[in-house]
Amino acid sequence: MRRMTYGLLVLGTGLGMALVARERRGVYESEAAGPASRQLMAEHEVILEVLRAAQTEADHARQGFNLDDNRVRDIVDFSRNFTDRCHHGKEERFYFPAAEVYAGQRVYGFVDELMTEHAYGRSIMDEIDYLLGGDAGEAATLIAERLSAYVSTMRRHIQRENQQLYQKSATFLPGAEEQALLVGFDRIERVDLGMGFHERYHRLAETLGEGLRQR
Ligand SMILES: [Fe+2]
Ligand SMILES: [Fe+2]
Repeated sequence: MRRMTYGLLVLGTGLGMALVARERRGVYESEAAGPASRQLMAEHEVILEVLRAAQTEADHARQGFNLDDNRVRDIVDFSRNFTDRCHHGKEERFYFPAAEVYAGQRVYGFVDELMTEHAYGRSIMDEIDYLLGGDAGEAATLIAERLSAYVSTMRRHIQRENQQLYQKSATFLPGAEEQALLVGFDRIERVDLGMGFHERYHRLAETLGEGLRQR
């Protein structure tokens, strides 16, 4: 009996350690996800850095500090170009159609919701852009509110994609399809957006993140 209890204890500890190790792995290092899914999850990490900068800017404005218009312009630039044209472009033109073909009804409604969230994020960035050209004092409160709406929508959106679509992609997307998706992604990056585009926006995300740490 004592030996059995000891055995169960060892088994439980081993299982616990395996679960902890799995928790520690980055989201885009998931064993289950293929290369296209992992690329999208890695881009989420860059987007999340800029969302942290956006939330800090909104909090500062709410606390009565002046809004840093240049930082907000950089956040709009990043969100329109890296997040929307590049990342959402890869999802909408290549990944979502493939997911719908292979997963069918399991993802139809879900993908529709994700597309609506992309459109909502796009409209918020347009509103912030219009507000930046208006009366600074009055606009600051609205810009802060719009930034917070964007941050909460996109954080939830990324979490849903990571947890419900990309990490489970191995169950519905064949490996060959994941490889083929990379061809489309590469086309968006190198031909549609041009060489150096990705690097430029990675640097902008880093700059916005560094500004965050200095505050
Ligand atoms: Fe998305
Ligand atoms: Fe995404």
